[in-house]
Amino acid sequence: MKKVFIILGSLVGLVVLFGIGFFIFIALRGIPSYEAKDPGGKIEITPERVANGKKMVSLLCSKCHLDPATGKLSGQLVADVPTIFGEIHSRNITNDKTNGIGKWTDGQILYLLRTGIRIDGRFTPIYMPKFVHLSDEDIKSVVAYLRSDDPWVQASNSPNVECKPSWMTKFLCFVAFKPIPYPEKAIPEPDKNDKLAFGKYLTTGKYECYQCHSKDFAKNDIINPEKSEGFFGGGNGLLTREGKVIHSANITMDKETGIGNWTEDQFRNAVKSGITPHGTTRYPMDPWTLLSDEETSSIFAYLKTVPEIKNKVNRELTE
Ligand code: HEC
Ligand code: HEC
Repeated sequence: MKKVFIILGSLVGLVVLFGIGFFIFIALRGIPSYEAKDPGGKIEITPERVANGKKMVSLLCSKCHLDPATGKLSGQLVADVPTIFGEIHSRNITNDKTNGIGKWTDGQILYLLRTGIRIDGRFTPIYMPKFVHLSDEDIKSVVAYLRSDDPWVQASNSPNVECKPSWMTKFLCFVAFKPIPYPEKAIPEPDKNDKLAFGKYLTTGKYECYQCHSKDFAKNDIINPEKSEGFFGGGNGLLTREGKVIHSANITMDKETGIGNWTEDQFRNAVKSGITPHGTTRYPMDPWTLLSDEETSSIFAYLKTVPEIKNKVNRELTE
């Protein structure tokens, strides 16, 4: 009998030792690095690209990178990242050669935006999005804009504050968060005359509405967005500025729990002005004022083809 206890005791001891060892291993390993590459190519800066890029950066980057203190994209504390991921600061992406990205080549910026790997090989985990499905023209517009002389990107020497990723983030980098492979083929522009194709591109590729509007970030399929669990059925828990949980709306065409009774005008007003048939949209669904009517119309047309999901979302804020 005693022998059994000794064996059991040593087994438990081994498991505990292994656990402690693993904990320390992950803590020390930190955020992993990968091979940094530069796909090359100088991106031509045209007024069209700078205008398109400014719109995209306003919609896709400024929320995290615009620093109210400098009025430039010089980085700030990203307050609505759940604390479980650590203390997260975005970075200075102005044209400053020391603290910004003034020294990066166009290719290096493209590589980071697609894969998440920086010039020194360090990986940016989940709190810096990867722009996987942007067309080549759109992603080049972002880079052209970052290279322009627009006030937001003019050199600011505001220093970077390093992120303090939590143990959990480091662990997730070990098992789940990995770089996205750089695309092997060209990603063409969608045909803007094909409303459905354009709407699909806007919601799953360019503005990625599906990311917030499906069930759970952890169950989103970044490579094949339409395979995400609860695609556009809402319920994903997000944070308000005050740290309360707000659930994304079901925007499939289910008549009872989604937006199946909405007209296109009501949809456009909700998205662009934040005024819905039952109230206003709260943060993080700030009005997408910069979207064109052509864009909201194509998005609405595409949403009509998305399988309806019956999912009544709790619209109350929770702790
Ligand atoms: C949800 C917040 C968020 C959004 C949106 C976002 N970023 Fe970031 N970005 C970050 C954070 C946080 C980091 C730092 C990550 C780290 O240190 O691991 C970062 C890092 C970067 C870097 C690396 C800079 C360096 O010094 O290593 C670049 C370049 C960048 N972002 C550009 C962009 C662009 C361009 C967009 C929009 C197309 C964008 N980001 C959108 C949060 C964001
Ligand atoms: C950062 C996350 C996020 C992104 C990105 C996002 N949404 Fe939302 N959206 C929400 C949340 C959260 C709500 C619920 C707001 C509320 O309850 O006040 C919402 C509400 C809505 C509503 C109102 C629905 C209703 O029943 O009241 C519509 C319509 C909508 N979003 C469309 C879109 C479209 C189209 C896009 C892409 C262009 C998009 N959203 C991108 C988070 C997001």
